[in-house]
Amino acid sequence: ARYAALMLRSVILAAARSQKVEHLVETAPISRDVVRRFVAGTGTADALAATRQLADAGLTITLDNLGEDTLTADQANATKEAYLELLAELGRAGLTGRAVPGEQTGEVTVATAEVSLKLSALGQAFDEQLAEKNAREICEAAAAIGTTVTLDMEDHTTTDSTLDILARLRRDHPGTGAVLQAYLRRTESDCRELATAGSRVRLCKGAYKEPEHVAYQAPLEVDKSYVRCMNILMAGEGYPMLATHDPRLIAIAQDRAKWFDRSPAEFEFQMLYGIRPDEQARLARAGHTVRVYVPYGTEWYGYLMRRLAERPANLTFFARALVSK
Ligand code: FDA
Repeated sequence: ARYAALMLRSVILAAARSQKVEHLVETAPISRDVVRRFVAGTGTADALAATRQLADAGLTITLDNLGEDTLTADQANATKEAYLELLAELGRAGLTGRAVPGEQTGEVTVATAEVSLKLSALGQAFDEQLAEKNAREICEAAAAIGTTVTLDMEDHTTTDSTLDILARLRRDHPGTGAVLQAYLRRTESDCRELATAGSRVRLCKGAYKEPEHVAYQAPLEVDKSYVRCMNILMAGEGYPMLATHDPRLIAIAQDRAKWFDRSPAEFEFQMLYGIRPDEQARLARAGHTVRVYVPYGTEWYGYLMRRLAERPANLTFFARALVSK
């Protein structure tokens, strides 16, 4: 893991020195392999090919078009158009949804492939209404082909805005999913709010560097919060989507599913593209729905660099994937 961390660090440092990060990463063989391990490619065709491959292997997919640092309405519009194009292609390929009536969950669409959105990429930082309008168009296009949308969660300054927009989108598209981050102190209460019939909630640990007054800092505190949040979601009426690679949390989730009498159709596991692929396959073989979060798009370079720079743990996180399964 240490060697892989060093390798990644040199990629980051090289990238930081270069104005043309993309070119640099494309031309350096090791770093290109590193990037390709975690990103499906740059365009819709790449995203579709990766989706088909994962679907053929018995996995489900959520696709993320990378387009952060959106500063203008034109950029936001371009991101929206990329999602509309992707959804049209998913529809044509038949890689979409089916409605599953769960005993506990109400009717939930568990699509072969759905999409994940960052509201910041749709304009949230400078025009919340524009971001909402863009997200609504994407939700409509998703509904038209029988699939769903999940709103990613970003840093804590956006949580209220994102949950407000989610609530309004859910009036027309109740299957729109939320992401809650266990490291935030507020999240248990948000889980209670969102554990309602038909509500899709992705629970993750949280990836941003957050201040002490809003977020637990110690990994053990975050894990304990994750378990408390998972209990609320599993006991509730919604559809929990447990996004973690952590073996201990995965084992606890399986135990809680038995305790709360949830069949494998009434919750799912989620993991990132390229991280613990063997574990993804193992859980799918055991009968679980496993959804792989597949990022694609030309913005990957900036995205990877920022994620790695934001939080030292993120560096270890990606580096670990290079040496283990
Ligand atoms: P963590 O990184 O703490 O690792 C715990 C344990 O898992 C390790 O000790 C090891 O045993 C195992 N493990 C972890 N990584 C491994 C690897 N690479 N190889 C082998 N073993 C490994 N965040 C956010 O803020 N907003 C969001 O919207 C999302 N969305 C999202 C979607 C999906 C599908 C996932 C999986 C994650 C997110 N995240 C996110 C990111 C999330 O918040 C978090 O940063 C990462 O998932 C890392 O946390 P883990 O729970 O995996 O455990």
